[in-house]
Amino acid sequence: MAGPPEEFQGCTGVEKMKIALAADHVGFALKEKIREYLKNKGLEVEDHGPSNSEPVDYPDFAEKVAAQVAAKQADYGVLVCGTGIGMMIAANKVPGIRAAAANDTISARLAREHNNANVLTLGGRMIDEASMHQIVDTWLSTPFAGGHHERRVEKIDAIDQRYHLEKKV
Ligand code: RB5
Repeated sequence: MAGPPEEFQGCTGVEKMKIALAADHVGFALKEKIREYLKNKGLEVEDHGPSNSEPVDYPDFAEKVAAQVAAKQADYGVLVCGTGIGMMIAANKVPGIRAAAANDTISARLAREHNNANVLTLGGRMIDEASMHQIVDTWLSTPFAGGHHERRVEKIDAIDQRYHLEKKV
């Protein structure tokens, strides 16, 4: 396995890259496969549920994972619903989160390279296990390109500041 991007090494104070993982009922089966795939790669995985495929509401699970990533308790989040879209929308409500629905490897690569995305969202209805392997591998091995993309990501953070953090003062 390729090592973690340099920016994340030591981020959590432990050697292994740590992934916060969750799903809703539609994404449950794929989440189970992702957890085993990541563990087999030697990554630390914190599974935030659910533990079965009984109906649940995806925002509840998006928030759990987003909170872990925003608090730097995990290097990346991975969320699975039917399309990846609901999880993406919900996770992006948490300041500091840049969640990207990436059901193909080009989206996964560019979300990391250009957007420095820190949460990958996937659609259990959209991809099979083999595609998941390719997307996850691409995500984990692609560093943020920086350069002019840095300025744009800083502007995303500035929106968080204006619409979320300032209201707490
Ligand atoms: C649940 O039925 C479904 O809406 C959810 O999995 C997801 O696709 C939402 O974006």
